[in-house]
Amino acid sequence: MIILGIETSCDETAVAILKISRNNSEILSNFIFSQIKIHCPFGGVVPKIAGREHLKKIIPLLNKALQKSKVKPKDIDLIAVTRGPGLAPSLFIGMSVAKTLSYVWQKPIVGVNHIEAHIFANLLPQIGKSYKLQVTSYKRMFPAIGLIVSGGHTQLILARDFLKYKLLGETLDDAGGECFDKTARILGLGYPGGPAIAAEAAKLKAGSRKLKAGLPSPMINSKNFDFSFSGLKTAVLYDFKKRSSKERKSKKYIQEMSWEIQQAIIDVLISKTIKAAEKYQVKTILLGGGVIANKELRKQFRAKIRKEKSNYELRIPSLKFCGDNAAMIALLGFYYFKSGKIDHWENLKIKPDLRLV
Ligand code: KG4
Ligand code: ZN
Repeated sequence: MIILGIETSCDETAVAILKISRNNSEILSNFIFSQIKIHCPFGGVVPKIAGREHLKKIIPLLNKALQKSKVKPKDIDLIAVTRGPGLAPSLFIGMSVAKTLSYVWQKPIVGVNHIEAHIFANLLPQIGKSYKLQVTSYKRMFPAIGLIVSGGHTQLILARDFLKYKLLGETLDDAGGECFDKTARILGLGYPGGPAIAAEAAKLKAGSRKLKAGLPSPMINSKNFDFSFSGLKTAVLYDFKKRSSKERKSKKYIQEMSWEIQQAIIDVLISKTIKAAEKYQVKTILLGGGVIANKELRKQFRAKIRKEKSNYELRIPSLKFCGDNAAMIALLGFYYFKSGKIDHWENLKIKPDLRLV
């Protein structure tokens, strides 16, 4: 089965083509155009500009994907497109293109949930490798705890099975990635803040990692599974204002603060996720979202699971599939289709505030 995936929920225009068969599934093409540089001067994603840029890029990317895959429109069996959650002007573009293709090519279409797709990104292979993807392969993952952390979301999800989700907790204010972005801005680092902070933190030698500012890991000890990151951002701002202008600009201060911010975020994410995995006795922990590309987070998460000698398995998508991509949309579309969940282009609508549960 050949599936065309389209993703335009935020600031990445993405098109992918997946071939799924019993013994030899493959990502035939996977193209992502990131608008990061365009939004950079504004310090965050500007929805109207995002929509305009998706419109510019989507057809060229679609063409590239078809060419690279050596797939003709007649070979496509299903179109999968992100319905939400996301920015309305962004979602509109992908949805309009997908619906038009469904109508003109006379192909089935399915609208998928972006957050759920991040969970399914754990089933994608390394690029360029063929992999065996049984229709039922997702069953081995469940029950699972999903932790999705991106620029727009921070959610802890209990997935008892495919389509059986419960939102255990989410951020009450800023998302994890947003916290990286906002604190990076305070420190005068570029956008997106996550990679910038990670790079500064990595420069700090292990011996000089002293907790200087004593930043909080908000809600780390709270009984529920909600998160809050705005307190951390405020603490960074206070500490920054306290320093002399010379110190604020010093390499040492920037590196130390970056390390502390990153560590505070890592601590709270790991702690809550493990608590949830233990409480619900799951089989796997599934990570997803742009922040999961953080190397230190991946390393510490793996080390912690090893140390706990837990019964559950930790799955982390390859770097390429942590952030927004269309391969995960195509894959989830496949599972929807197989379970009989199918839409019709006439009725399919975007849903910017789409929830899992
Ligand atoms: O999933 P994503 O690509 O887009 C959405 O927000 O939907 O996530 C982007 C977020 C940004 O906030 C960015 O700062 C963060 O992920 N991010 C990182 C890293 N790479 C991206 N945060 C920490 N460490 C990273 N290496
Ligand atoms: Zn995302």
